[in-house]
Amino acid sequence: MKIFDPISLAGLSQSNRLWRSATNEKMADDDGRPNEAYIHLYEKLAQGGVGLIVTGCATVMSEEQPSPNMLAVDRDDLIPDLTRFTTRVHAAGGKICAQIMAGGPQTIYQQDSRIAYGPSAVAHPLYGTIPKEMTHDDIAMFVDAFGQAARRVQEAGFDAVQIHGAHGYLVSCFLTPFFNRRTDAYGGSIENRGRFLLEILDAIRSTVGSDFPVFVKMHGSDHRPSQGFTLEDALVIAQALESHGLDAVEISGGYMSADWATSPMRPQIIRQEKQSYFAKDAAAIAEVVSIPVISTGGHRSPEVLNALLHTTRIAGFGMSRTLLSEPDLPHKWRHGYTGLPRCVSCNKCFGEDVNMCILDREKEPLQK
Ligand SMILES: Cc1cc2nc3c(=O)[nH]c(=O)nc-3n(C[C@H](O)[C@H](O)[C@H](O)COP(=O)(O)O)c2cc1C
Repeated sequence: MKIFDPISLAGLSQSNRLWRSATNEKMADDDGRPNEAYIHLYEKLAQGGVGLIVTGCATVMSEEQPSPNMLAVDRDDLIPDLTRFTTRVHAAGGKICAQIMAGGPQTIYQQDSRIAYGPSAVAHPLYGTIPKEMTHDDIAMFVDAFGQAARRVQEAGFDAVQIHGAHGYLVSCFLTPFFNRRTDAYGGSIENRGRFLLEILDAIRSTVGSDFPVFVKMHGSDHRPSQGFTLEDALVIAQALESHGLDAVEISGGYMSADWATSPMRPQIIRQEKQSYFAKDAAAIAEVVSIPVISTGGHRSPEVLNALLHTTRIAGFGMSRTLLSEPDLPHKWRHGYTGLPRCVSCNKCFGEDVNMCILDREKEPLQK
């Protein structure tokens, strides 16, 4: 098996095994609509040859979004603009999945005017934000919001929907003991910490039906020194998700440390041997489930990816920073390019305004 072999995920055919993993460009309109510049970025990705594009995280509840100018899927009046977006991506030859999310305490955005929710009232170690400990009514409100968001995603013509269960946002907070100190049915054992995610998946299934592809992005491990979601936890959750009808799971990992530019969640890859840094966790998870497992994090060379396809049960690979810098990298790889990607994982793509490759920012500042 090679990265340019086609794959079908729950009936969704992809021309190759590369995903553009979710990347929030902070370029949607202030109310979350995809605008012309936003759509153009995705047309370029589609033309660049990646098998499946996952959008930047899209909010299921506008008052729960962790950063400005994210895509939104929280209101029915957005469906016509979202439909225009998917139509254009399809016309450019792409397949597109919407990643849907709720923020939780990993934010300082608009904290004076809105509530951040969390499993427990634990201050975020970097941002200091103390969330409201969610009541059972709050949990039901979010579960319903995810279900309704997925319905809009399907109605707008997306090819799939992905629940953002990673990177310290709300769903991932429930999974991680550091953030989840609950003593009710949503805290403690891994079965309890996973309950919120499974209820969200069930709600989505009930709105989109059994044929629409539903994916989850989650950690293979937080890689925290203590109180983290572990690989053993991930094996339990991946199996539970499969038994609840999930179609594919994308494996990321890590946590946001004080030096967040080089945090374990998104390390710089100074030496080439550090590439594909979460593939070991993804490979372990792929051993215990039959659904496709996608590995994301630090993929930089087709040779390494083809070797991983050969030696593990990993089905495909997600890439973010490399495609933010070079959206046609899949096309170049397909045609034999063997040089290094333009992206050196410096993490300077995170901007105060938009998120874009520093090389492009210096060359041609983008207009929102
Ligand atoms: C600018 C930027 C925005 C990101 N936004 C998201 C996001 O919206 N949702 C998500 O799951 N991951 C997000 N990520 C994480 C990536 O999808 C990916 O997991 C991580 O960058 C590691 O992959 P890479 O080494 O290919 O960049 C973002 C990463 C970057 C660089």
